[in-house]
Amino acid sequence: MIVGIVRNYFDYNATTPVHPEVVEAVARALADTFGNASSVHGFGQQAKAALDEARASVADLIGADVAEVVFTAGGTESDNFALRGAAEAQEARNRRRIVTTAIEHEAVLNTCRHLGRRGYTCTILPVTTHGVVTPAALSEAMGDDVAVVSVMHANNEIGTVQPIEELATIAHAQGALFHTDAVQTAGKVPVNVRALGIDLLSLSGHKFYGPKGSGALWIRRGVRLAPILTGGRHERNRRAGTENVPGLVGLGVAARLAKASLVGEGIRLAAMRDRLERTVLERIPKTTVNGVRALRVPNTTNISFEGVEAESLLIALDLEGIAVSTGSACSSGTLEPSHVLKAMNLPTGRAQNAIRFSLGRGTTDEEIDRLLDLLPPIVEKLRSLVRMPKTSSLVEAHGPLTTLTVSSPGSSHSR
Ligand SMILES: Cc1ncc(COP(=O)(O)O)c(C=O)c1O
Repeated sequence: MIVGIVRNYFDYNATTPVHPEVVEAVARALADTFGNASSVHGFGQQAKAALDEARASVADLIGADVAEVVFTAGGTESDNFALRGAAEAQEARNRRRIVTTAIEHEAVLNTCRHLGRRGYTCTILPVTTHGVVTPAALSEAMGDDVAVVSVMHANNEIGTVQPIEELATIAHAQGALFHTDAVQTAGKVPVNVRALGIDLLSLSGHKFYGPKGSGALWIRRGVRLAPILTGGRHERNRRAGTENVPGLVGLGVAARLAKASLVGEGIRLAAMRDRLERTVLERIPKTTVNGVRALRVPNTTNISFEGVEAESLLIALDLEGIAVSTGSACSSGTLEPSHVLKAMNLPTGRAQNAIRFSLGRGTTDEEIDRLLDLLPPIVEKLRSLVRMPKTSSLVEAHGPLTTLTVSSPGSSHSR
């Protein structure tokens, strides 16, 4: 807890503060709705009704049918369920390959890696220097041995939105299922599962002002997955375990509130994000916005400050009460660039100098002003402490579009 200084939070992609209405609903459910939703008596039925209401709100957020929403304990579980469940369910069809991308969250990459040790093959698609997966790369990788293709809707580090509709069409042409990790889009930008033309979608409550440990996997009607949690007949036999009623009530309220403010909030955040980027580029020499030429979610920017170690900048900002995150993780005393920036084939320096600023509900113009006032002197000071490299490469060529089989996904830094 930082006491006595102004605090500004620019790390909404890591997690969001719980909305006051969600806090109230969770507290009420904790106190009053303690029944087991599987119980036949009134207490159980009250819990079941609360879950039904929450499920309807989540379904409404993503344009789904209520029966297609399976509650989980968050994005990581939803991703695991989608990939493991699809892989196991498709074994009988002799489909033992999973196709995903080099910029996925560890919840997907490490699950693929694990399945790779269990006799499945994982094909990892490259991305362009703008952080986008191309339909050509997927077409090249596809075959009738693919069980499931998993491509995230938007990337958590750079915010780039992937061409999901096109990619799903390519996957379906070969009879594969298509999963998208929408943890960074659901509740932030309009998401409609039918318009996307997909089979499976992961979302997580704590990314849109809901409680941590609450999430959902949307499973298109008719798609069969093998369960990854076995036990009772909860969630229509798809996910065993007594439901976390208060957490899921919170997820439902967060989904309802998000739906109501999606469009307006997106416009507000995009304006602030764009002003932040513009002014940083104007006021601070040798800065580059990563992924800027791609379609991006409105709240995210990832900026490289040449000659400045991202961790040092993060700490200097934290001392001023400003919370951001880096695109690199400290591993064995060295700065390891994030697997996302590495996959974009950025020069090493640019990846190690990258800071992610992610905006949200509490972000104001005044906060952006304060950040913009503080950044230039801090960057100048940090640069004066190290010798600046002579050039900054702004190469924007496309990365290799061949598919690679990778056994080790990037860093262990997960957000
Ligand atoms: C893109 C993405 N997928 C999955 C996750 C994991 O979600 P959860 O924290 O709910 O397990 C995150 C969290 O940072 C994420 O950003």
